[in-house]
Amino acid sequence: MKSMITLKSALAWFVLSAVFCLTAADAGDARRGPFLGNGFHNGWVDQHSVVLWTRLTKTMEMNRNGKQFVDPGEKVNKQFMQGKTTTQLIPDQIPAGFRLEDMEGACPGMEGEARLTYYPKGEEKKKIQTGWTPVSASKDFTAQWKLKNLRAGTDYEAVVEARPNAGAQPSDCVKGRFNTAPAADAVRDIRFVVVTCHEYPLRDAGANGHEIYDTMLKMKPDFFVHTGDVEYYDKPHPYAWTEELMRFKWNRLFALPYQRSFLANVTTYFMKDDHDTLKDDCWPGQTYGAVTFERGAEIFDKEQFPSNDKPYKTIRWGKDLQIWIVETRNYRSPNTMPDGPEKTIWGKEQKQWFFDSVARSDATFKVLISPNPLLGPDRKNKRDNHANDNFRFEGDELRAFINRHKMFITNGDRHWQYVTHRPGTDLWEFGCGPGSDVHAGGWPPDDKRPEHRFLRVKGGFLSVEVSRRAGAPSIRFRHHDVFGTVMHDEVFPAK
Ligand SMILES: [Fe+2]
Repeated sequence: MKSMITLKSALAWFVLSAVFCLTAADAGDARRGPFLGNGFHNGWVDQHSVVLWTRLTKTMEMNRNGKQFVDPGEKVNKQFMQGKTTTQLIPDQIPAGFRLEDMEGACPGMEGEARLTYYPKGEEKKKIQTGWTPVSASKDFTAQWKLKNLRAGTDYEAVVEARPNAGAQPSDCVKGRFNTAPAADAVRDIRFVVVTCHEYPLRDAGANGHEIYDTMLKMKPDFFVHTGDVEYYDKPHPYAWTEELMRFKWNRLFALPYQRSFLANVTTYFMKDDHDTLKDDCWPGQTYGAVTFERGAEIFDKEQFPSNDKPYKTIRWGKDLQIWIVETRNYRSPNTMPDGPEKTIWGKEQKQWFFDSVARSDATFKVLISPNPLLGPDRKNKRDNHANDNFRFEGDELRAFINRHKMFITNGDRHWQYVTHRPGTDLWEFGCGPGSDVHAGGWPPDDKRPEHRFLRVKGGFLSVEVSRRAGAPSIRFRHHDVFGTVMHDEVFPAK
């Protein structure tokens, strides 16, 4: 019942925002499209810049009554995991006589033009409008704008419009917002949320998407970080053995009402991990079906998400907080390489940038946000991250540095929520846990180790809050279930 009502309100939001923007719309164009069925996202915000992303679609909403995919089975998928390709990449999964856009969840793209208008909240007279940007099939009908010269610590309104061609009236419109980070000397309470691991078939709010997006939107966080595995290419319905199927999975996920409402209204950082780059535990040089690792990374870094010159960045959020967003796929050594000083996940350049920028920081609290764990504990059979024995050399180097600088670690990747503290050190790690209860698993719920301060094998998210009381700053890490109830709470004063 709840999901029916909220689906209505999510759709109402979408329709209302369209009505608000489309005062001059020509009815003919409005019926014809293109539409903004994927809303818009932002990324990489700092004090003075942000990147906005959108995509033009053939329909206003995803295809809700489409056909179901055929699951060819894990055995067939294994051949594609091993880089063996066939000509049956797509037909194996689609019933005979149907096209990809006939499938349930499809939100196909459409050619046309997009335009962005933005202004500080309440100052519409200061609005800046971009020119109309054409989109094309070569980039999956997406458009991006990098905005500069923004005001620090400011709320911005943003309006994205679509039209079929030059001279035509707008055919669709979405209104949303974002906010910039406050200056390095600004004393401000900041709250952000961290999530990981979502999959379309494993959503818990039916046609609306994932419950946590509705929950987190009501919390009005200053920003949101997705630590990766935003989708899973290597899971069925469908397995994404081609670029076309990869794009299909993004188009479907971002057409979900909860995701769409949240992402158009919250400041966001997206990171990628193995499943949304290519496949489980992947590294450069590998293939999955017809797609190379390099192309997979490009689809994420340059096409389906807001792009930055580098896929890592540090951002100061006022006097008391600085965050580091790191990249753990593009620069890594093969997991199979023998461990030693040359074996890496972060790569030399990123590591040096991290050491230098942390050493320079005078923020009260420093938080590393990593797709993967650095402390764990992780399962014995895993070979993909710094908490695993086969990456111990670089793991020890990073842990020693993080401990010396009294940084906190938050991470995704693992499908359970946890807090780990290594006794006798300043090392703390907060694993946010997967996006829904049905996505949880991989660790026995009763296997609570001495280093575990908290363990919960369920879905939810992490919130982090930096605030001052009587002038004394503190940082607070809270694990939530999918409805926002606090499951665990740790507070630290400034060290
Ligand atoms: Fe995952």
